[in-house]
Amino acid sequence: MTIHHILVIGSGSVGKRHLRNFSDLGCRVSAIDPRKDRLEEAAGEVTLEGSFQDLGEAIWKGGGFSGAVVASPPKFHVSQCIELAREGIPILLEKPVAKTLREALELNDALTEYPGTKLLLGYSYRWWPPLNDVRSRINSGVIGLPLHAKFVMSAHLADWHPWEHYKDFFMASRELGGGALLDESHFIDLMISFFGIPNEVFAVIENIGGLDIDTDDNVDIIASYRNGPRVTLHLDLFGRPHEKFISVTGETGTLGWSFEPNRIRLGRDMGQVWTDDEFTFERNEMFIETAKEFIGLLEGRTAPRCTLRDGINVLRVIEACRESASKGKIVTVGA
Ligand SMILES: NC(=O)c1ccc[n+]([C@@H]2O[C@H](COP(=O)([O-])OP(=O)(O)OC[C@H]3O[C@@H](n4cnc5c(N)ncnc54)[C@H](O)[C@@H]3O)[C@@H](O)[C@H]2O)c1
Repeated sequence: MTIHHILVIGSGSVGKRHLRNFSDLGCRVSAIDPRKDRLEEAAGEVTLEGSFQDLGEAIWKGGGFSGAVVASPPKFHVSQCIELAREGIPILLEKPVAKTLREALELNDALTEYPGTKLLLGYSYRWWPPLNDVRSRINSGVIGLPLHAKFVMSAHLADWHPWEHYKDFFMASRELGGGALLDESHFIDLMISFFGIPNEVFAVIENIGGLDIDTDDNVDIIASYRNGPRVTLHLDLFGRPHEKFISVTGETGTLGWSFEPNRIRLGRDMGQVWTDDEFTFERNEMFIETAKEFIGLLEGRTAPRCTLRDGINVLRVIEACRESASKGKIVTVGA
């Protein structure tokens, strides 16, 4: 059995999670971070084969990597992916692909020079079984034709990284690629995976939460489909208690999913009569499943379930939302 060597670029919150998970799955792991304290924290959690301050140093001194995880702030995603592709190293790219659609398309163009580059995109809710269950129940017609859907992701930024002040990590910085619209784009990805790319959006993108950050902290989107439901998405960085839920109402009932409580519910009556399915999955399981799929991709056993094209589609919707918010108008989602 091959023992893979995985390089994790960015040893912050999700980077350390990937280091632990790949290590638990039997891989050798190395880490990159410009901050020495982050590398020391990582070394305290897993056995590091190598520890580097940038990608150039890792490639020069380390080498022999079976794959790499890009878990740095979004500003660096595209340049790091291009460097990895040039070296022929398969990539697990954390979301979002980039800060802008233009940069994501640059990555797409650059990868044509390195045909066969393996890239798995980490919109991790794609690996959350109850959501896949909701998607198949909708498709099997359990609520009839979907007419309206609500997607809500609301979580106070100060609670995300209890070990540091929220102003000290990339989420507070527009330059580094923070903000609700980019970071909580998980739910834009899910909307697309449920219903496809919307034809038009109307969006409000603002900073209203008093967090004193230079990124957006409140996003409201109305997405319209020619042949699909009306969808509203609300994303914020100030909500307490945290809420992550999706509710889809069709001709014959409503199907609801929530992260906490971890359940799916189906209601078909006028009153509050619900049939609930409760689940016990832990959040880390979605990252473990992503890591397993990446290992499968390295070994040629699996095809990526979330691709660069999926990430580009999310950014197409994001750019349309930005244009809509700046013009105060409904905007067609571009090709
Ligand atoms: N899939 C998910 O559910 C999920 C969850 C959390 C984070 N993420 C994504 O992962 C990325 C990182 O998020 P995080 O919460 O771990 O942030 P973080 O701030 O905790 O970690 C980022 C790390 O990258 C380091 N860094 C800065 N510049 C770098 C560079 N040029 N090269 C390498 N490392 C660099 C920072 O020092 C920091 O330690 C973001 O894109 C975020 O959206 C995804």
